[in-house]
Amino acid sequence: MFNKKAKQNRKLPTHIAIIMDGNGRWAKKRSLPRSAGHAAGSKNFKDIARYCNKIGLKYLTVYAFSTENWKRPKEEVENIMNILREYLKDAKNFKDENIKVKFIGDLQPLDHDIKELIKDAENESENATGLHLNIALNYGGRDEIVHAVKKIVEEKIAPEDITEQTITDRLYTAGHPDPDFIIRPSGEYRLSNYLIWQSAYAEYWFSDVLWPDFKPKHLETAIDAFCGRDRRFGGVK
Ligand code: FPP
Repeated sequence: MFNKKAKQNRKLPTHIAIIMDGNGRWAKKRSLPRSAGHAAGSKNFKDIARYCNKIGLKYLTVYAFSTENWKRPKEEVENIMNILREYLKDAKNFKDENIKVKFIGDLQPLDHDIKELIKDAENESENATGLHLNIALNYGGRDEIVHAVKKIVEEKIAPEDITEQTITDRLYTAGHPDPDFIIRPSGEYRLSNYLIWQSAYAEYWFSDVLWPDFKPKHLETAIDAFCGRDRRFGGVK
């Protein structure tokens, strides 16, 4: 049972990042096509984003499609892109729910209509004051750092002027706080090129539950564990 008062007084993480893994295995367990797993994963993503907004989380970043995911069969890639299209067509929902949405990643190679839908969704929700929802799409942590380095070179910044902040300010997440809590369901214990610069001091939570089954109660268990951790950032307390 939740103690409502304790729940209100706890210090939530500021920024949760989730690797939404296990859709394929979820479908396989039910003898369904992988597309059914992604559909269930997408529905769960919406529920979890709504829940995070409800409890007052400030930032949620989800891994929807990595720079490596293009290696999947063409029809699976198309299926994931179509799920995204449908989601984006409901862009007004973000505004109605007071969720500010932003896409991070190299969006350039995406289909033109998806890029337009993304722009609309970002513009539409620009002034929302609730959850900042980042969706990582064609995202890779190393790719992101390469992009940042290219910008630094293009801007002709002198080596002696380059600090950690110089790089941080040129990542897709510029201006956002680093994730302080990274969650990966589905029994895998890897970061898979996700937010590798930003996660330097993050806490981690791994769970065997497959993403479509990862419900608010599982998120609550993870957050409770986070709240009990002693974060020292390399110092002493
Ligand atoms: C990983 O599971 C999941 C993905 C690569 C795709 C995630 C995409 C969604 C949940 C839909 C995104 C939609 C929106 C609207 C953001 P997997 O396929 O690698 O699972 P497996 O490891 O069990 O095969």
